[in-house]
Amino acid sequence: MALEEVTREKWATRLGFILAAVGSAVGLGNIWRFPFQVGQEGGAAFLVMYLLFVAIIGIPAMLVEFVVGRSSERNPINAFDRLGHGEWRFIGILGVITGFLILSYYSVVAGWVTRYTFASLTGAYFGEAGAYFGQISAGPAAVGFHALFMVVTAVIVAAGIQKGIEMAVKVMVPALLVLLVGLIAYAFTLEGAAQGYEYYLSPDFGVIAANWTSILPAAAGQAFFTLSLGMGVMITYASYIDEDRNLGVDGGWIAFLNTLVSILAGLVVFPVLFTIGTEPGSGGPGELFAGVGGAIAQVPGSRLVGFLFFGVVTIAALSSAISILEVLVSYAIDNYSIERPTATAVISAIVFVVGIPSAMSTDVLTLFDATTAQLLLPLGVFLTVIFVGWVYQDSAKELAKGTGSDASGTLPVLWLWYVRIPILIVVGFVLVINATELYGTLTDMLL
Ligand code: TRP
Repeated sequence: MALEEVTREKWATRLGFILAAVGSAVGLGNIWRFPFQVGQEGGAAFLVMYLLFVAIIGIPAMLVEFVVGRSSERNPINAFDRLGHGEWRFIGILGVITGFLILSYYSVVAGWVTRYTFASLTGAYFGEAGAYFGQISAGPAAVGFHALFMVVTAVIVAAGIQKGIEMAVKVMVPALLVLLVGLIAYAFTLEGAAQGYEYYLSPDFGVIAANWTSILPAAAGQAFFTLSLGMGVMITYASYIDEDRNLGVDGGWIAFLNTLVSILAGLVVFPVLFTIGTEPGSGGPGELFAGVGGAIAQVPGSRLVGFLFFGVVTIAALSSAISILEVLVSYAIDNYSIERPTATAVISAIVFVVGIPSAMSTDVLTLFDATTAQLLLPLGVFLTVIFVGWVYQDSAKELAKGTGSDASGTLPVLWLWYVRIPILIVVGFVLVINATELYGTLTDMLL
């Protein structure tokens, strides 16, 4: 046994792992991306598909990444070598490319949120929440806040002080829940509340049946994005878990807490949109800012409430952005023997440059977002599922560790077969639909 293996750092407590994973999972995906996806895909029909997808595909797929991470105790690229299947390391490389692309526009959106944090103090967006978003979301100012957010993320990763952020997450996630519950109570008193709930919570199964080929892939993309799946973040985090932990239980908790935050965000956004008369779905990436921003503008103590709300969301975005950057940086450190600060500076600079077009145009941003979430993340999950289901021989054994049963136990065996066939088929199907759709969009744009 290599020395490295014996001394490798482990999460000090079970809570440490769950918190770090929740810190990665809870972010703009829940508060910004989720409401606008719900709006674009017709409301409650999307919510139902999304919840189903998280439960039946998301959690088992998270366990797939956990198995690769814990059994290899390596970063997502070296993990495959370590498990004796170096020919699969291209999965890790795909993850690195996906990470670059996601972080590039994620930081632009986080820049908007940072700007709203400060704008709350002066009440800049209180009058015309929608118009203000139009002014700040694209152009040189958006580039500036994108730069600011990338610098802060880079400084934390360069110094290797993610632990500090994990501590912050411990406070921030509960704070976010409390703020959301307060805003939900306010949204409940609005005129448009009933309509908002109807739209968000009362699914029309006819709509699902008619539009499932568009709702299913969108729900899949959202589920993978929000759970931080498909690019190796969960492989990395699981590489530090002890063998006596039950992966299924931890994965369940992470998914539950993460989903809770999304559901609560929708309970603020939709009553507000119906009250101010904005059609959900018409706002696109500005939906959060019109919805929650509009609510905050009206409540007592709005400047403080806005500052706290957007401030907490900025920190949630920061802990997610760190999880992506850390995968890129640790790859560079391990494989090219560069020092951490240099690696971080170079990578962050490239991410910043790649993000500039998204900061200049929200159409570019949504194109980046749709392509990464709906194509590259499902592709990453699909390939990892093939690996864990069909190539790596000890998957069930790894999952069984910490559960009290062995590889022949009912749950590990069921999970393995479930991964091998149904999950592979569903994710493969999602990929085919999305690739076809993207091909259509691109040819429309270029011709
Ligand atoms: N899950 C985060 C969010 O919802 C974003 C994120 C972090 C992510 N790491 C990821 C998305 C890895 C995909 C892959 O905001």
